[in-house]
Amino acid sequence: GPATPIIYAPALLVAPPGAGNECAQPRREPAARAVERLISAAQAAGRDVWIISAYRDYATQIALYNRYVVRDGQAAADRYSARPGHSEHQTGLAVDFDDHGACYLDGCFGETSAGLWLAEHAAEYGFVLRYPADKEAVTGFMYEPWHFRYVGPELALEMRARGVTALEEFFGLPAAPDYAG
Ligand code: DAL
Ligand code: ZN
Repeated sequence: GPATPIIYAPALLVAPPGAGNECAQPRREPAARAVERLISAAQAAGRDVWIISAYRDYATQIALYNRYVVRDGQAAADRYSARPGHSEHQTGLAVDFDDHGACYLDGCFGETSAGLWLAEHAAEYGFVLRYPADKEAVTGFMYEPWHFRYVGPELALEMRARGVTALEEFFGLPAAPDYAG
């Protein structure tokens, strides 16, 4: 469902200076601390991981979505961009990662050593790969190997252990997004 109110903004947003952060967008605790730990671990494992995008406010999502609709048409844009008020980025708990390589916001990021490392280890830091490759009908969005959402280590590890990749499936929720509801 949409953010409530639609212009919802988290109260406490932080951007620790440790992590490279292209758009200088903050995160909300406890995701913020968890992102720093995830990036440190990735770097210790030799993966050059940094943040493209994290918290985006309602107005930013309006601008992004409208730009995508003009560029690709609404049906195509709806497969990869949440409509304003519906993006996980507005919660401050979602992060898009990159590795300074050739797969910036591209499906091939999932096959880079950084993307593979994130997919394997993100759960230990409380993150889930939110839009898996084969789950567009369930999540409503195309494969986004760069987009991770903080759900806490307990849930993320439980999903990993059970082999459940989509939050909708874990909670038995209907396919998202539900713009009509
Ligand atoms: N790209 C994701 C779905 C978003 O716009 O939040
Ligand atoms: Zn994202």
